[in-house]
Amino acid sequence: MLKVENLSVYYNKALAIDNISLEIKKDEAVCVLGSNGAGKTSLLNAIFNTVHKEGRVIFNSVDISKMPTHKIADMGMVYVPDKRTVFNELSVYENLEVAAHKIIKRKGKREFAKNLDAIFDQFGNLYEKRSLKAGYLSGGEQQMLSVAQGLIRSPVMFVMDEPTAGLSPKLMDVVFDFISFMRTQHITILIVEQNVNKTLKATDRAYIMEVGKIVDSGFSKDLLDSESIKKAYLGG
Ligand SMILES: Nc1ncnc2c1ncn2[C@@H]1O[C@H](COP(=O)(O)OP(=O)(O)OP(=O)(O)O)[C@@H](O)[C@H]1O
Ligand SMILES: [Mg+2]
Repeated sequence: MLKVENLSVYYNKALAIDNISLEIKKDEAVCVLGSNGAGKTSLLNAIFNTVHKEGRVIFNSVDISKMPTHKIADMGMVYVPDKRTVFNELSVYENLEVAAHKIIKRKGKREFAKNLDAIFDQFGNLYEKRSLKAGYLSGGEQQMLSVAQGLIRSPVMFVMDEPTAGLSPKLMDVVFDFISFMRTQHITILIVEQNVNKTLKATDRAYIMEVGKIVDSGFSKDLLDSESIKKAYLGG
C-alpha cells in the first residue's frame, strides 16, 4: 500500500534521513521506533511532502513524491502529527465536523455519522464533553480529539506521530484500544512511537531508526523478545 524508496531528507546541509526504504502492506500495522532525533518525524513529513526530500514515495501504486499534501490526504492517507490540531474556540463536536467537511461533501452526512458513532464509542470522555469548547479539554483529551479528527476523515491509511506522548497510562491504553479498533475496520496503520513495549504489542511489524538510518526491522513479536531491543529500549 505504501512504499518508501531510497528516501533522504536534508535540512540545509544536515542529513536527517539517510537513504531509507520501507514498505507497508494493506491491512498491516507497522511502527517506526527510535530515540529523539532519529528522524521519525522527518520520515512522516517526507511521506506527506512537507519537507524537501530525495527518493520516491508510492501510495496505492501512485507516485506521490511530488504531490501536494492535501491531495495525498484526498487519496485516503491521513496524518495525525505530533502537535495537537484542535481549534480551542470550537466544541468537540464542531472540531470533528470541521475535520470531516471534505468527507461529508464526498460521501454525505451518513458517513460522518457512522464515524462519529465509532469515535464516541471508543472515546467516552469526548462524547461526554462533545458540547464543550476544545480549549477546555485536558491536554490528553485534546490529543485524543486530534486522533479522532483523523478517523472522522475515513482513512484507508492512518499515519500517527507519537499519539501517546505525555498521556497517562490509562489514556495510553485508550489510544492503543483505538488502534486495535481501526485494525478491525481494515485501516492500514503507520505509527511512530517511543512507547516501545505497548507499540510492539499493537503492531505487526517494526522498523527501528537511529540517526537517520533503519538499523533493524522485523516482526513486532520477534523484536519484543530480542535481547538487543530489550537492552536498548525496554530497560534490560
Ligand atoms: N526543520 C528542521 N530544521 C533543521 N533540522 C531539523 C528540522 N527538523 C528536524 N531537524 C533535525 O533532524 C533530525 C531528525 O529530527 P526528527 O524530528 O525527524 O526526529 P524524531 O525521531 O522525530 O525525534 P523525536 O523523537 O524527538 O520527535 C534531528 O537531528 C533534528 O534536529
Ligand atoms: Mg518526532
